[in-house]
Amino acid sequence: MPQHTDAPTALKVALLGGGTVGSQTARILTEDADILRDRVGADLELTGIAVRDTGATRDWQADPALYTTDAEALVAGADVVIELMGGIEPARTLILRALAAGTSVVTGNKALLAQHGEELYAAAAATGAQLSFEAAVAGAIPILRPLRDSLGGDRVTRVMGIANGTTNFILDRMDSEGADFDDALAEAQRLGYAEADPTADVEGHDAAAKAAILATIAFGAPYTLDQVAVAGITAITAEDNAAAAEAGYVIKLLAIAERGRAADGAEGAVLRVHPTLLPREHPLASVRGAFNAVFVEAENAGELMFYGPGAGGAPTASAVMGDVVSIAQRIVRGGPARLRTPVTALPALDPAEAHTSFMVVLRAADQPGVLRRVAGVFEEHGVSIETLRQVPSEREDAPGASLRLITHRARQRDLDATVEALAALDVVHEVASVLRVEGN
Ligand code: NDP
Ligand code: HSE
Repeated sequence: MPQHTDAPTALKVALLGGGTVGSQTARILTEDADILRDRVGADLELTGIAVRDTGATRDWQADPALYTTDAEALVAGADVVIELMGGIEPARTLILRALAAGTSVVTGNKALLAQHGEELYAAAAATGAQLSFEAAVAGAIPILRPLRDSLGGDRVTRVMGIANGTTNFILDRMDSEGADFDDALAEAQRLGYAEADPTADVEGHDAAAKAAILATIAFGAPYTLDQVAVAGITAITAEDNAAAAEAGYVIKLLAIAERGRAADGAEGAVLRVHPTLLPREHPLASVRGAFNAVFVEAENAGELMFYGPGAGGAPTASAVMGDVVSIAQRIVRGGPARLRTPVTALPALDPAEAHTSFMVVLRAADQPGVLRRVAGVFEEHGVSIETLRQVPSEREDAPGASLRLITHRARQRDLDATVEALAALDVVHEVASVLRVEGN
């Protein structure tokens, strides 16, 4: 596409945040300025970096004169705003201000998008400004654009992703090296994968925000964090890992967005995040360390997997810069902003309607009739058992047997009722864990 005759020769880029991702974004804007100029057709001029502490030591140090605490002034003079501060405020207000002025924004702020996405999309649509957020899901992996554009002529039925690098790193270390949870988390923090508050990672909220964003792009309706059923990885025990490994599975924290049906048959979307047992041969099972992968099922394309670095400064900055270049090219060459166009508006369904298999670990008395009574509870609730293994309990405080059951696919609601009834059986000491199984 030719440039306009009055195309700008330089675009002012305001960077809000100079932390893990912001530093690397500043580095690329500075070190790769020539390459970027060639691709865009104009200079990308970094006008400032908004931070809290202008004197702090950075992963990559920009010209000291660029650091400022006056984010508002930076936004006011910008052609493109890059928001990498994180958190809700002041990020939300600054982005709204930019969009209201017709200034396009690139952000990696999944927490903000999953809580206030609809407001932000509406603000962008009102002025025709672009709001891009490829970095918000799965770090460097191009997933949102393929979901929206490349699969724009298909019907996505399910998106299932390892979308949080920190938890995948921790689970991988626990599974492969028997590492301690806290040590693995500390290393993930040191490597720059974890959120400022790592609770968001380990409790599943970061992955839930990504599930909401993936569903928004895949199903064309703005979903929010509160529509995602969330369970994190803090309750995963060594026994869960052992039981999973023994049955040929590996435990991964998955973010899942899928089409489903409500009890009355109406179509909707079910969004959930939880530790999940995957068969060791499933493509997602081989995703190690802080890598992410998103497994997409579409009616015509079939099964696709997108894989790559899911966190960290430089990988995430790569996704940020992809959005920046795309926006800058459009400003220079002209043409309308690409707006998010809802195709279908699938309502979010009650996650209790989701169907999966489950692994249930029980501690029970080791005496005649126990298996019959346990199996009877599953039968009463219409939940079919696929495999059952009994091993002696290793816990001195809970002698007896440890029963490890894997079910056929069942409705979450029916499984919940089964678990409640199992816990009430006098021969069951404890329902030690309930984990979903996918991909078998
Ligand atoms: P950091 O905590 O490393 O950096 C945040 C930056 O924003 C810091 O430079 C901080 O300033 C600045 N900042 C925060 N609040 C304010 C404020 N009120 N006013 C001015 N400056 C402020 O975060 P990350 O770089 O890790 O993450 C940035 C965003 O990218 C987040 O939304 C995160 O979820 C997202 N993201 C992060 C990934 C990662 O791997 N780290 C991957 C994908 C997305 P100062 O340095 O002075 O404290
Ligand atoms: N804390 C996030 C993670 C960063 O660990 O995946 C990437 O979004």
